[in-house]
Amino acid sequence: LSPVLTIDGPSGAGKGTVSRIVARKLGWHYLDSGALYRAVGVAASWADIDTSDASALVRCTFDTKVQFAEQGESLRVLVNGTDATDELRLETTGALASAIAAIPEVRAALKERQRAFRVLPGLVADGRDMGTVIFPDAPFKVFLTASAEERAQRRHKQLKEKGVSVNFDDLLREIMARDARDAQRAVAPLRPAEDAVLIDTSGIGIDDVVAKVLGLVSV
Ligand code: C5P
Repeated sequence: LSPVLTIDGPSGAGKGTVSRIVARKLGWHYLDSGALYRAVGVAASWADIDTSDASALVRCTFDTKVQFAEQGESLRVLVNGTDATDELRLETTGALASAIAAIPEVRAALKERQRAFRVLPGLVADGRDMGTVIFPDAPFKVFLTASAEERAQRRHKQLKEKGVSVNFDDLLREIMARDARDAQRAVAPLRPAEDAVLIDTSGIGIDDVVAKVLGLVSV
């Protein structure tokens, strides 16, 4: 079985950036599991499916084709053949993904699809339940955290760089609401695996976090 490094944590803790760099340094594959939930959210909105219609959302999960395509430095995500990378990153898509992710049948439908990414030489799996549910036997597990304020600041800076202006307080509120929803849901609530190494990234630069994570992986 190929090795897996799971990197879980709340949104904005730096999982995406850290996972991508670590995967590149190790020469391993990278699974952005949040993108799968976001892709279902985008497909559901394209199909005008109401977020309260659980059975339609479950059907949509089975029907949605998601492909990851590397394009230079960036990773494009195709949803049913259409490049949806930009739409996927929207705050509204994140909220939609979080609502959809609370449906047990949706999570079950995505389970095997996520496990299929575990191929040689190894996988860095980024998400919320990578170490607890999807790859419980992973030899390397990390849980990244950061204060809500710090995560909101990072997101605010990111959006500003993209030319998107958002109110900081609204962003902080949205992040805290999403955290609460992710932590309190009945299925796969956000929590560190018992054997995960906790790393608080507040006030630490990306390079230091990457070094810490790489230090945990022995191959
Ligand atoms: O990580 P990202 O912000 O892209 O994830 C979007 C949403 O998808 C999260 O708020 C969470 O509710 C859900 N998610 C999940 N399990 C994962 C990855 C994401 O429930 N493994």
